[in-house]
Amino acid sequence: MVAPEQLAGSAVAVIDVLRATTTAIAALANGAREVLPCLTIEEAHKRAARFASGEALLGGERGGLAIEGFDLGNSPLEYTPEVVAGKSVVLTTTNGTKALLHCRAAAEIVLAAFVNLSAAAEFLSQAARKRGSSIDLVCSGTDGQVTREDVLLAGGLAAAIAAEGNWQLSDSAAIARDAWQQVSGTASGEELNARLLPALIASRGGTNLCGLGMQADIEFAAQVDRFSLVPRFEAQAQSIVVA
Ligand code: MLT
Repeated sequence: MVAPEQLAGSAVAVIDVLRATTTAIAALANGAREVLPCLTIEEAHKRAARFASGEALLGGERGGLAIEGFDLGNSPLEYTPEVVAGKSVVLTTTNGTKALLHCRAAAEIVLAAFVNLSAAAEFLSQAARKRGSSIDLVCSGTDGQVTREDVLLAGGLAAAIAAEGNWQLSDSAAIARDAWQQVSGTASGEELNARLLPALIASRGGTNLCGLGMQADIEFAAQVDRFSLVPRFEAQAQSIVVA
């Protein structure tokens, strides 16, 4: 992964399609007040303890499974309006929250997933144009390895951003865009989701989730542009809120 100091001044999208960024977007779309990313389970407990009873929820995973004593796992399907509306969600995941905190030197940090692809692309290109900065697409991957589900989204973002303006793509962004275009073709709407789903299922994150019986989470993550919101990470407050 890119060194933190290389991101200084940049507009960054943090990507963890399966599932951290998809889940944080779902939580905010369903009315959570904020999402507070934490590196460790201990830190998550400490952060949640600062809230009055009933104001915060503990969510996340280790090895894909819910953490003992936590309110919620890392399935976006758990973060319904009935559960999260008006609450602060303290979230710790294996790779996604780590990648997010890794990017804290960037000028602008947003969370991207297929469920907010177009909104995230538009936000990034506007933010970067306003600042005259570059855009970095940071893939969380799994245990330091690049994963296809994240590269496909990086490609979708690169394609959308490049289509909108005169952006020069790096070789890695162009490779990701080509991978995305091979999956998406010219499809849109339900047809696009149907093309994306098997690619996500076959990815590393998808294979892990299928092994845990969590295929429904992959189906949720494969809904392109289900939401139009963009979560923004406020590095000072260490809080993710709707931009
Ligand atoms: C992660 O951060 O590594 C993912 O969220 C893993 C998962 O959802 O199981």
